[in-house]
Amino acid sequence: MRADSRLYVALDLPDMDSTRAMVETLGDAVVSYKIGLQLLPLGGTEFARELKRAGKNVFLDFKLHDIGATVEKATSSIVGAGADLLTVHATPDVMAAAVRGRGESDLKIMAVTVLTSLDNAALVDMGYFNTVEELVMHRVRQAVKTGVDGVIASPLEAEKIRALVKDINGPKDFLIITPGVRMPGGDKGDQKRVATPKDALANGASHIVVGRPITQAPDPKAAALEILAHIGND
Ligand code: C5P
Repeated sequence: MRADSRLYVALDLPDMDSTRAMVETLGDAVVSYKIGLQLLPLGGTEFARELKRAGKNVFLDFKLHDIGATVEKATSSIVGAGADLLTVHATPDVMAAAVRGRGESDLKIMAVTVLTSLDNAALVDMGYFNTVEELVMHRVRQAVKTGVDGVIASPLEAEKIRALVKDINGPKDFLIITPGVRMPGGDKGDQKRVATPKDALANGASHIVVGRPITQAPDPKAAALEILAHIGND
């Protein structure tokens, strides 16, 4: 697989003008983009249509979490944007509703296992008495059972997730998309558990999401190309 098909660039930018300028700057170097909560209220869904018309892959990071009927209808509405990937939280009712909502469309449903900002102490505080790893693995089992297309997880969990999916005879092409990716020696920012792009993929991730190391770089295109060269084609 070509390195550029493994990379989603997170467009976490403050407005549509800077977002359009970033996509222009990155040009042919980047083929896939993630649009998240910062941009969705500012026309991010409409921009997804534009990106699709320009031949790009689009990941809409809505992280839906509501009653089943609402998630199902929201997912059906999102199908209209023509995006490739949509995130929902990994609770069984939410995942099942999203799978119903995408119907016969090509929209892939990705389940967010446990946010990487949460640690064991934070889970206890929320009333969950599992470790992060136990909860991640529990949710991966449920994700496979519900028929979603993959999970979003820390690159440090990718290897165990890939092994578990194999153990329970899950799909070979189950997607594991990992944010929290940094080049060797790169600035971690607020990401606590990071891996290099190469290690994330070697651990079983199918794709990586990289935001600030590209979008905040002095030369974003050069930063993207450096990451792609580091990954290499396989
Ligand atoms: O800038 P950075 O490379 O840290 O961006 C990572 C992207 O992945 C952000 O859009 C962030 O919201 C998202 N993300 C994450 N951790 C998760 C889920 C999503 O960092 N568990």
